[in-house]
Amino acid sequence: MKVLLIGSGGREHALAWKLAQSPRLTKLYAAPGNPGIAACAELVDLDPTHIEAIVAFARDENVGLVVVGPEQPLVEGLADRLREDGVLVFGPNKAAAQLEGSKGFTKDLCARAGIPTAAYARFSNLPSAQAGLAGFGLPVVIKADGLAAGKGVVIAQTEAEAQAALRDMFGGSFGGAGAEVVIEEFLEGEEASFFALTDGRAAIPFGSAQDHKRVGEGDTGPNTGGMGAYSPAPVLTPALQAQVMREIILPTVRTMANAGMPYSGVLYAGLMLTADGPKLIEYNARFGDPETQVLMPRFEGDLIELMLAVAEERLANIPVPHLSPRVALTVVMAARGYPGTPEKGGDISGIKMAETDGAIVFHAGTALRDDQLVAQGGRVLAVTGTGASVAEAQAAAYAAIDRITFPSGFCRRDIGWREVAREKAQR
Ligand code: AMP
Ligand code: GLY
Repeated sequence: MKVLLIGSGGREHALAWKLAQSPRLTKLYAAPGNPGIAACAELVDLDPTHIEAIVAFARDENVGLVVVGPEQPLVEGLADRLREDGVLVFGPNKAAAQLEGSKGFTKDLCARAGIPTAAYARFSNLPSAQAGLAGFGLPVVIKADGLAAGKGVVIAQTEAEAQAALRDMFGGSFGGAGAEVVIEEFLEGEEASFFALTDGRAAIPFGSAQDHKRVGEGDTGPNTGGMGAYSPAPVLTPALQAQVMREIILPTVRTMANAGMPYSGVLYAGLMLTADGPKLIEYNARFGDPETQVLMPRFEGDLIELMLAVAEERLANIPVPHLSPRVALTVVMAARGYPGTPEKGGDISGIKMAETDGAIVFHAGTALRDDQLVAQGGRVLAVTGTGASVAEAQAAAYAAIDRITFPSGFCRRDIGWREVAREKAQR
């Protein structure tokens, strides 16, 4: 079967790496892909948001399955158009992708279905939001409703900060994403990510992870897309995962189906593990980046098989996918300046050497300049190690990192610290 993968980051390299292992694959295309993905796919120069061009390519090349990596094309309706043309696709339709595309939509769904989440209110203009603030304590969370590349969330410690955030959002700092704002109760607890696959009716768990969002060691400094992650997340015990399926994932799937917008694809739930149990912070309508770089190395089945079962609504009839109990941990190497303005063009070498002991180097933001691999984006590489414990996986990832030469890059040296400390305490 021919498969077309949409996207160009580390998440897509991890998906390509796993798709390429499927015996069902005859040809993998990636649009637009990256130099790492080029090792296992033919790159096609198409923009992920040029929906008609992608639909035409899938049709002309007789593509059997399209796998959509990033959220933007989903929110813009790529999956709908592919389905209209009879092309199988892994990823939700536009209406269902509102679970990521509109925070207010998701909060209303939670309210309707009784899904545990932070108390909230939605506002569509500044005066009403300013007045509505009085109903919340401090700190308080202010969110732009729409997609804002992970930047539309402010945790305000004071009323002045909250007012400033509201003025910013309604003032257009996040463009259309801030035309509506959600004010939320601040939840206390530890964060964890949970993945479930659903075909619109059945849903099955597909692993857990924790990431490090801040740029600096000890989880300090500005937010990023994620500087590293590990899977599984032991804080999400089997009992808690069962509770998340029962109280959050399954009611979501049911409510979406009943509303006439069945959700097909992966549901990536950002959770807060509070004293009152797990609560939903947000949904993503796609796999996580860099979480995919730790999920895929643990998945022992055939990814095409699994994604087809989702796309063809056969999820209830297949065996539950098996994830290895081995821990995977990934460390992101970023370009100096990230998450501000990253330095482009820095030379990278040593990737082959880094992979000699079983680590995997996923490309996130690289390019080739006259055969030399160079940095192209903020997050440049994600280096994944595996082991019997988080400490072992961490050691494997950093051993690989230390073989990479990337003078204009940096990484955190403490990815997984919380779990490594817990493992030590248990010994
Ligand atoms: P989101 O984009 O909704 O995931 O928010 C980004 C980050 O803000 C989350 O990963 C949390 O760390 C934090 N956050 C969002 N909502 C809340 C909340 N209600 N209480 C506490 N922290 C939150
Ligand atoms: N690592 C966070 C995300 O993919 O949204």
